[in-house]
Amino acid sequence: MLVAPSILSCDFGRINEEITAICEAGCDLVHVDVMDGHFVPNLTIGPVVVNAVAKAATKPLDIHLMVENNTFFVDLFAPLKPKYLSFHIEEEKHPHRLIQKIRDYGISPAIVLNPHTPPSSIEYLLADLDMVLLMSVNPGFGGQKFIPSVLEKASLLKEMIEKRNTKTLIEVDGGVNNQNIQALAHAGVDIVVAGNYVFSASDYTCAIDSLRV
Ligand code: DX5
Ligand code: ZN
Repeated sequence: MLVAPSILSCDFGRINEEITAICEAGCDLVHVDVMDGHFVPNLTIGPVVVNAVAKAATKPLDIHLMVENNTFFVDLFAPLKPKYLSFHIEEEKHPHRLIQKIRDYGISPAIVLNPHTPPSSIEYLLADLDMVLLMSVNPGFGGQKFIPSVLEKASLLKEMIEKRNTKTLIEVDGGVNNQNIQALAHAGVDIVVAGNYVFSASDYTCAIDSLRV
């Protein structure tokens, strides 16, 4: 299991130290939540701050866009060269075109599904995606309760991936902790995002290691 701490729950007054600490604690990716105050009822950080995060991080960035105008934000964040750039299928009329645009930037494209969105909505995009991110909370805030129906959804998605023989990874985001990690691994999840669970721990290495099942 790969672990991507979400910096939404870090101490933003000490953001540099926090990024250094999670990278030294052995995380695999640094998950960055970009919210525009329209697609979700919260507002986070833009390219100026994310650029500082990219400089401090020794691990690749995993940028999760929760915005209305995906194309505008893809163009804004692509110069920061994240490993993954993910956008919500619920907010995109031309997902295939946007996937190609992200790939043309040399970035791995990923699509995010809200809790109500079925995996069938992206069946014909799977071959072009490097990752699918399943939300296990409603997007917008850290520290929410895990929605267990994501487990069935991950299993269904895994079957689709195997049937189509693609290399698409499955990432789950929201309410992940040491209580649900085994079930997530069993459902075929490859990467977990964990915000509150990692950043509220006194020892980031122990918290990250406890998710490596
Ligand atoms: C929610 C974000 C998540 C969030 C996860 O909209 O996408 O990445 O920070 O935080 P926890 O792990 O605290 O649920
Ligand atoms: Zn996220």
